Amino acid sequence: MIGFSDTFGSRATIIFLFICLALVQNPAFGAKTRHFKWAVESMYWSPDCVENVVIGINGQFPGPTIRALAGDTISVELTNKLNTEGVVIHWHGIRQFGTPWADGAASISQCAINPGETFVYRFKVDKAGTYFYHGHYGMQRSGGLYGSLIVDLPEGEKEPFHYDGEFNLLLSDWWHKSSQLQEVDLSSKPFRWIGEPQTLLMNGRGQYNCSLAAAQFINSSSSICEFRGNEPCAPQILHVHPNKTYRLRVTSTTALASLNLAIGNHKLVVVEADGNYVQPFSVDDMDIYSGESYSILFTTDQDPSKNYWISLSVRGREPKTPQALTILNYFPTSASKLPTSPPPIAPLWNDYNHSKAFSNKIHARMGSAKPPTTYDHRIILLSTQNRIDGYTKWAINNVSLVLPATPYLGSIKYGLKNAFDHKNPPEDFPSDYDVMKQAPNPNSTYGNGVYMLSFNSTVDVILQNANALAANVSDIHPWHLHGHAFWVLGYGEGKFTKEDEAKFNLKNPPLRNTAVIFPYGWTALRFVADNPGVWAFHCHIEPHLHMGMGVVFAEGVDRVRKVPNDALTCGLTGKMFLNNKGH
Ligand code: C2O
Ligand code: CU
Repeated sequence: MIGFSDTFGSRATIIFLFICLALVQNPAFGAKTRHFKWAVESMYWSPDCVENVVIGINGQFPGPTIRALAGDTISVELTNKLNTEGVVIHWHGIRQFGTPWADGAASISQCAINPGETFVYRFKVDKAGTYFYHGHYGMQRSGGLYGSLIVDLPEGEKEPFHYDGEFNLLLSDWWHKSSQLQEVDLSSKPFRWIGEPQTLLMNGRGQYNCSLAAAQFINSSSSICEFRGNEPCAPQILHVHPNKTYRLRVTSTTALASLNLAIGNHKLVVVEADGNYVQPFSVDDMDIYSGESYSILFTTDQDPSKNYWISLSVRGREPKTPQALTILNYFPTSASKLPTSPPPIAPLWNDYNHSKAFSNKIHARMGSAKPPTTYDHRIILLSTQNRIDGYTKWAINNVSLVLPATPYLGSIKYGLKNAFDHKNPPEDFPSDYDVMKQAPNPNSTYGNGVYMLSFNSTVDVILQNANALAANVSDIHPWHLHGHAFWVLGYGEGKFTKEDEAKFNLKNPPLRNTAVIFPYGWTALRFVADNPGVWAFHCHIEPHLHMGMGVVFAEGVDRVRKVPNDALTCGLTGKMFLNNKGH
């Protein structure tokens, strides 16, 4: 008997020591799997007080916020309850290490989920930060399929800044025309532009025609539109206490609009961009492009007997969409008391110097990982607006992306010959191309080739902007990379030349997953191709992507574990699988 309890005692000690060791060595110890069951369906909703149809999740718009700790596994069992459309959801900013089939890009990482079918997204959130998710098939993001995904530091770890409370604003733009109609517009001959959004939304709430009342308020001190109770379009008021510091998470999932955010009388201190810490800097207003996220800190150091405007305005396009407003409400002042000072005045829509100044202030926080000092592979991507058979398109090095029926991940992994064009897409454009002028020949071609990157190589991408089809027009394009964060080495004017390399910031470039190209300019990015999978890289303006403005990168696909069958069963891969099973 004594012998038994001795053995038991020492075994218990060993187990105890082992657990201690695990606790010390594995910061992910205690990581959880968080399960969600989602149904995606069309439903009536009034995002801007005008009844319309949105794509909701579990009866909510925007979709439910996912909140997790770094190291957790997220499992979303998604059922498509749309009647006639496929669906996928992309987890924007999550790199999907080891689970490239869960990236949620239709035709790239998986087949669209058919109506009535269920697909399980299972992936790890490895890094704290502010992220979001959205539909990535057709123009479903424009149709309202999106929500927030916030990852906190694991238990026991601290942010490198202090705050007393936090808020989340998910920004989007809204059309009264359905996303299906918008798709028809964009693919019509002659081309029809979808026009500017009717309303800007904060957390899915906006006020069509109402913010006009706020504009009147500037002159007449008349009242803002009134909202009865808890209508879905009532502005989300931010309630604060005096003399505190708040963290405001801001994410833009707009289909088109570039935005500027300001809080009247308050400074904004930027501390996070796309899930990476930045060296804190203070501004009066900030730009945010589609696909970007930030955390800012603000301190409630103003007169607490007043309230203040929070404003959202359009940048980079002639604004035909009214400024969106909500209120920063100081305790104990009533939330219905209107601010005494007018809403912040947005910088002029085409004041690009203001935007560039903001982008150039963003640096990695001291002590962040530095980029490799040299590159192995450089790809120059020229963005142009083109015509193909009379249709209006966007093209990259004169190739307009059309996604194949079979998802690349399966077709590359299993060596399918005919699923897509195996010729390498162009890595540069003719040296005599004048980016400042209309192209003498705007004709282009469709393509679906893939840039094959050597595993673990350092890749430079130079995004080159140009004049669009019309004279003296060059748009803003925020480019987003799946599966990675990249270092933004710099921005420049005109055509990129080898000499511009001298201007690269290799000391403290910010790590991001989205970066903008300014009109007639270039943006230089660097990343390491260390994530086995197939990854979209595209303009995050949804109509632009829809018109072909994207490319596809693949790396280390031979290292990808077995791709789950339900990510594969469409197009040729699906047929191949069925054939192999002898059907
Ligand atoms: Cu948020 Cu491929 O997009
Ligand atoms: Cu674009």
